[in-house]
Amino acid sequence: MIDLRSDTITRPTPPMRRAMADAQVGDDVFGDDPTVLALERRAAEILGKEAAAYMPSGTMSNQVAIRAHTEPGDEIVIEATAHSYFYETGGPAALAGVMCHLIPGERGIFTGDQVRAALRPRNVHFPPTKLVCIENTHNRGGGSVWPLERIAEVAAVAREAGLAMHLDGARLWNASVAAGIPERQYARHFDTVSVCFSKGLGAPIGSALAGTAAFIGRARRFRKMFGGGMRQAGIVAAGALYALEHHRERLAEDHANARRLAQGLAGLPGIELDPPTVETNIVIFRVTASPAPALCGRLKEAGVWMLPRDDENIRAVTHLDVNRAEIDEAIGIIGRVMRG
Ligand SMILES: Cc1ncc(COP(=O)(O)O)c(C=O)c1O
Repeated sequence: MIDLRSDTITRPTPPMRRAMADAQVGDDVFGDDPTVLALERRAAEILGKEAAAYMPSGTMSNQVAIRAHTEPGDEIVIEATAHSYFYETGGPAALAGVMCHLIPGERGIFTGDQVRAALRPRNVHFPPTKLVCIENTHNRGGGSVWPLERIAEVAAVAREAGLAMHLDGARLWNASVAAGIPERQYARHFDTVSVCFSKGLGAPIGSALAGTAAFIGRARRFRKMFGGGMRQAGIVAAGALYALEHHRERLAEDHANARRLAQGLAGLPGIELDPPTVETNIVIFRVTASPAPALCGRLKEAGVWMLPRDDENIRAVTHLDVNRAEIDEAIGIIGRVMRG
């Protein structure tokens, strides 16, 4: 089975497992797990922030950030298909008690003017707007990379209005490799940045939230409140630390594989795909011959596992556990199924 469902399906590599097995650990709730502390220091350093907190998941990292930036009844400005809004099970409403002011994006990317138009007058009738969220790369946008100037434009509007900026950088590593821009150059436009170790980097568990020391101190309280205080977490943090040091640069291979897959699929009957839209490791294509869920079922039986994104579109994601030869094999299988 060639599994292209997500970049989260990877298994730890043998050296990653060894790093985990050998990890020094302590009780992280008491703040004395040396491996977690080392991971947090390293993540903060890469992102150019004062501090970071290790989180069990990207969802918790985003939701802790939203909670820590706001008070119940506040409003946040977020793109309509952003993961933190679309896929995090109502977290902003349930956990932070905030309203989401949705902005439609172009492949997940929006403009400073759109943020300006979303701002509320500051008076007693309206919820106070507190935060703007950006996702880079954008998952439902098809792994799209935010141009740095566009981030700066949005940040300028947010600053002028006194709003904080949060980056869901679950795949910031991919954006950085694709654009050739260091993570910290993206991060400097944001008060807080969430990154994931369990996606393209291939670690089994965990994310980090980075920001000022004071903000991360407040975030730690909500992490505990949401049930994210972990004990000998160094075991899993060691996998994340290994991934951070060894698996960032290789993301270029995943991107090349995604482009190769896109080029292979673009000419097939019943598939609509514009290869230049594939910027990182996510390939989204439209199917015209049969509903996407039914086609995914047939493709899975034939040996390629992908997920329908909706009735018309299928998503394939390249990752550490799929190589170029398997991509070629996948193109062959999909071609045979499409030609009937
Ligand atoms: C952009 C983005 N943010 C956040 C998350 C949530 O991460 P997790 O699955 O670790 O909760 C995901 C998961 O796929 C994601 O794609």
